[in-house]
Amino acid sequence: MATRMSENFDIQEIMREASALKWESIPRHVQQQIENTIAPTSLTKPDLTVLYGIVQQLDPTRALEVGLATGSSAVALLLGSSKLTSLDVIDPYQSSGFHNKGLEAIQLINNQYQLDFQFLPEFSHTALPKLLFSGKTYDYVFIDASHKFDSTIIEVFYADQMLDVGGFIIMDDRPWPMVGGVIAFLEQNYKHYTINTDHYRITLLHKTDQDRRAWFDFWNFSVPRSPEHERKIEEYRSQRKAQQSGQTK
Ligand SMILES: C[S@@+](CC[C@H](N)C(=O)[O-])C[C@H]1O[C@@H](n2cnc3c(N)ncnc32)[C@H](O)[C@@H]1O
Repeated sequence: MATRMSENFDIQEIMREASALKWESIPRHVQQQIENTIAPTSLTKPDLTVLYGIVQQLDPTRALEVGLATGSSAVALLLGSSKLTSLDVIDPYQSSGFHNKGLEAIQLINNQYQLDFQFLPEFSHTALPKLLFSGKTYDYVFIDASHKFDSTIIEVFYADQMLDVGGFIIMDDRPWPMVGGVIAFLEQNYKHYTINTDHYRITLLHKTDQDRRAWFDFWNFSVPRSPEHERKIEEYRSQRKAQQSGQTK
């Protein structure tokens, strides 16, 4: 089993091992704490099992999470890692949209672990430059936030600025074209990463070098679009239209 950060990490092997992990084989107390956080905005139980398996293998020390919601991915991170010393979390809607459920889940675990924990209740595009300016560095960044193409690009851009060579970015929700488009851009242009897309929605990115592009380096990318997600987008658009017309009546 691969168990440490290194530039020679085989991320295919990490994904294979994580995908083979069964929910039933996770310790009961971990299952319970993850289950307590699951909501429609979370990853599913099988996907959280994969995330937990990835975290166990990467075993990060300094982590950043962008997009907390009810805290499922943060709990998988906290309980899956054995060496974590600090965690920074960004979410502008934790109080207004999630009744601080994610924060409570983290604090419950952190009473035991006493990590250096920082919460920034703001948008990623204002919080991330502050973290960079304050000199923060990470070996693990989890991105599951706005999902808009441009915000997601900004999140990855700043994550890369603060990520050690040898560190990892994990992104959820690749089937959505806004996120999948960013990953397609990264696959073509971020040559300093090895990117694994074997899982249907979780993407694992391993930073293997510094960014060595010149200003003229740019490679085309095409945005993958799945019929299933196009249908969902159409559904969301009609729901929004119905709400908006209801509001004007
Ligand atoms: C899909 S949920 C995250 C789910 C979470 N990772 C989990 O496992 O439960 C998306 C989160 O991103 C947050 N968010 C939305 N826009 C954001 C932005 N611009 N910057 C940071 N977070 C944002 C939302 O408040 C929400 O909590």
